[in-house]
Amino acid sequence: MPTTHHAPATPATPGTPDTPVLTATGVTMRFGGLTAVHAVDLTVHPNEIVGLIGPNGAGKTTFFNCLTGLYRPTEGTVAYRNTVLPPKPHLVTRAGIARTFQNIRLFANMTVLENVLVGRHTRTHEGLFAALLRGPRFHRAETESTRRAMELLAFTGLDRKAEQLARNLPYGEQRKLEIARALASDPGLLLLDEPTAGMNPQETRTTETLVHAIRDQGTAVLVIEHDMRFIFNLCDRVAVLVQGEKLVEGTSETVQADERVIAAYLGTPFDDAPGQEEIAEVEAAEAQADATRAGTETGETGPEEER
Ligand SMILES: Nc1ncnc2c1ncn2[C@@H]1O[C@H](COP(=O)(O)OP(=O)(O)OP(=O)(O)O)[C@@H](O)[C@H]1O
Ligand SMILES: [Mg+2]
Repeated sequence: MPTTHHAPATPATPGTPDTPVLTATGVTMRFGGLTAVHAVDLTVHPNEIVGLIGPNGAGKTTFFNCLTGLYRPTEGTVAYRNTVLPPKPHLVTRAGIARTFQNIRLFANMTVLENVLVGRHTRTHEGLFAALLRGPRFHRAETESTRRAMELLAFTGLDRKAEQLARNLPYGEQRKLEIARALASDPGLLLLDEPTAGMNPQETRTTETLVHAIRDQGTAVLVIEHDMRFIFNLCDRVAVLVQGEKLVEGTSETVQADERVIAAYLGTPFDDAPGQEEIAEVEAAEAQADATRAGTETGETGPEEER
C-alpha cells in the first residue's frame, strides 16, 4: 500500500517539486596544464537515477568533487534547487547534496552506529554549547538522531551490526555504511562514486535494490560506476564523460547504441551483455550439441542445466 504524503503548503526549499536537485553549468576543473573536467552541463531532477560513466581518468570523481565543494571549479556553477552553491563541503551537505567516496572514508575506530550519527550532525540544530551542557534539548535531539540512524541502518541492512567497529565490517558492508551515513543528512540528491566496487554479484544486486529504494523514498541519485550491467539496469538516464567532456547523454538504450560511446568506452559487445549475434551463435552451438546427444543417447533424458 503506498502511503500518502501531503505536500507542505510552503516548500522548505525554493522551486516546485520538479525543480532540479542539480544544475551543473559549464563546470571546468583544471589542474595546472591538465583540464580534468571541461565545460560539463548536467541536470538531475527529483526522482531520477542518473548514471555517470566513462573510462578511468575521464574526470568523473573530479566532477563529483566540484559538485560537492571539495574543489572550487575553475569555471562554472553548481546549483541545488536553483540556488547556486558555495564551494564549501559542509554548506553543500546542508543544502541537500550528500555523497560517498570512491575510496571508502569511514571512521574506522568508531562503531557503525556512531558513523551514521556523524552524518546526522548537519541535520540536528543542537550547537556546541547544548552538546557540552548536555541539557534536555541535547538529549532529545540525541534520542531522535539515534532513532533515525537505526532506521537508516535497517534500511541498508546493517542494523544488526550497529555496535561493531566500522573497520571490522566486510568491504561490501563498509560501502553500504557509507551510503547510510550519507543518507543521515536527509539529502535531496545522493552522489555515489563506484558504490559496487569490490562487491560480489550478490552484494551488487542488493545495492541495485537499495538505490531504487532510495529514489522511491524521494532522494535523487547520481551514480558513477564501471559495472555496465548495474548502470544500464538502474539508470533513467546516463551521461558519458570522456577526457573531461560529456560525450553523450540519454537513456540506457541510446547510450549503449551510440557509436562514439562504443568506440571510446564500451567496446563491442561490452562485458555481460551479449549482442544478438553472440546469442544466435551460442543457441546454434547448443542446438548442435542437443542434436548430437539425441543421436547418441538412448531414451534417457537427464536434468537440463539451466544457466
Ligand atoms: N587533485 C588532482 N591534481 C591533479 N590532477 C588530478 C587531481 N585529481 C584528479 N586529477 C587528474 O584528473 C584526471 C581525472 O581524474 P578522476 O579521478 O576524476 O577520473 P575518474 O573518471 O574518476 O577515473 P576512475 O574511473 O579511475 O576513478 C586524471 O588525469 C587525474 O590524474
Ligand atoms: Mg573516480
